[in-house]
Amino acid sequence: MCGIIGYTGKEQALPLILGGLERLEYRGYDSAGVALIEDRRLVVEKRVGKIRELVKSLWGKPYKGKTGIGHTRWATHGEPSTENAHPHTDERCEFAIVHNGIVENYLELRKELEGKGVKFRSNTDTEVIAHLIANAYRGDLLDAVLEVVNRLRGAFAFAVITVHEPSRIVGVKQGSPLVVGLGEGENFLASDIPAILPYTRKIVTLSDGEVADITPEGVNIYDFNGNPVTKEIMVVPWDIISAEKSGFKHFMLKEIYEQPKAVGDTIRGLISSGEEPPFSLKDFRRILMIACGTSYHAGLVGKFWIEKLSGVPTEVVYASEFRYADFPVDERDLIIGISQSGETIDTKFAINFAKRKGAKTLSVVNVVGSSIDRESDYTLHTHAGPEIGVAATKTFTAQLSALYFLASSGHPEKDRLLSELMKVPAKIEETLDRSEVVEKIADKYMKKKDFLYLGRYLSFPIALEGALKLKEISYIHAEGYPAGEMKHGPIALIDENMPVVVVAPQDRVHEKTLANIEEVRTRKGIIIGVGFEGDEKVEKLSSEFIAVPPIEEDFTPFLTVVPLQLLAYHIASKLGLDVDQPRNLAKTVTVE
Ligand code: G6P
Repeated sequence: MCGIIGYTGKEQALPLILGGLERLEYRGYDSAGVALIEDRRLVVEKRVGKIRELVKSLWGKPYKGKTGIGHTRWATHGEPSTENAHPHTDERCEFAIVHNGIVENYLELRKELEGKGVKFRSNTDTEVIAHLIANAYRGDLLDAVLEVVNRLRGAFAFAVITVHEPSRIVGVKQGSPLVVGLGEGENFLASDIPAILPYTRKIVTLSDGEVADITPEGVNIYDFNGNPVTKEIMVVPWDIISAEKSGFKHFMLKEIYEQPKAVGDTIRGLISSGEEPPFSLKDFRRILMIACGTSYHAGLVGKFWIEKLSGVPTEVVYASEFRYADFPVDERDLIIGISQSGETIDTKFAINFAKRKGAKTLSVVNVVGSSIDRESDYTLHTHAGPEIGVAATKTFTAQLSALYFLASSGHPEKDRLLSELMKVPAKIEETLDRSEVVEKIADKYMKKKDFLYLGRYLSFPIALEGALKLKEISYIHAEGYPAGEMKHGPIALIDENMPVVVVAPQDRVHEKTLANIEEVRTRKGIIIGVGFEGDEKVEKLSSEFIAVPPIEEDFTPFLTVVPLQLLAYHIASKLGLDVDQPRNLAKTVTVE
């Protein structure tokens, strides 16, 4: 994980780098650092903690350098500490490097370097790269990087600067994301587009096995053998305003409220762009959906829709589990990767593996130009805009929109189904209008230590998602369970202290869910029922009732997830926790 950024140009590099790091902080935030070329000298500043700690430590320091690199870290090798924070340098402090990813053979390389007398300062895998480049340097940074890069194994992206060539940055991409931003007399490099979006919209996305040689005057891209590569320049349509908080206390709350727009934009975007894949779902013997975290839960909902509307057997698999299992995949299969970031390493692996096996690959991705977007045969883009809160909200409902769109493609009643789907944004809006009820419930139960979330059929993935939201941001233990499975274990946990959130819209399993609510009640559990407005049965059985507007069965997940997002949000916010950047997590997981 981690975020990296680099700048070389006519402006002072430090404020631009710090601004970019703040936008990259979602990728990790246990320590941060910068390296600048100041009068042919390298200065390196690092701090444990969030970017604001680094910013504070830099107040009043007279750095004017016009070339620099920065890093925000999510620790993999070596605990969060100043020594392990990036940038890392060679022994003479002439080369500085920032790195995202893992160098798998670093121990072997470290041993070799130590054998030559090199003294290491950190426990990171990254530091080997700095020493190797310093050793390989014979007057040309690009040549040195090319020599070293072929010795590294793993998935990584890094950027390096040197005092010997003060207006040059060399960036490498192999497995982890890296983009180059093109300006006038200045150029940028970063782990993702939003980091540099305030400065330029002209972006070149690097592919694996490419090196960018960046100076203020221009950018040249090469492969690992040093052959020039011609790349397309993409002009990004996003507006940076959409990445600001617009008066909300946290990004997560803003993003919850953006869901009517995210869903509406996604449906309209998909309909008008004609992104529908040029094949029918029925062409395949099986569909495998592969994803992680919240995207996995979207897949679980999508499975029900796809099987109902197309009849094609569909499985949903955690990408990290798919990776080392022996899934028989061939050209008769459709593999669907679902990923907000388009960079999750396990999901990316699955797409590439499936392609090698001859399967068709389709992705549902929010970040245009991301690795999974580029590497899949087809992409359905969710038009949710940038999501900053680490806990995914609007991208989840946008993913649901894309999956319903896909499930309905080729269905004889497709137009009717899509026009029903178009009614969802207004219903989400109505659901959001009732958020005060959820806030009061949050107040009442925020001190509880455990929560159970139950649901059946389409509401089971929503129970999982509700539990995930709560544990991610409030650090309260929460479990999602199929309501019918409760009797096979979790029921033993229920007593008068256990809040049980039951997702109970009026669907085909409503009666069954009511019976499960009764079972919880009999054991004195606290029932927080989520049901349709006017559903007296659920309301009567519940200690607390959250009403969502009635809607066709298929679309219930779009509405029932909203109060669960709000419940997690209000509990975490009332507990005074860092809602947008919860501990130990990162928004984009680029390590296995
Ligand atoms: C991380 C994020 C989650 C996200 C998951 C999958 O765990 O914190 O919010 O759901 O990764 O990410 P993706 O970008 O592939 O959807």
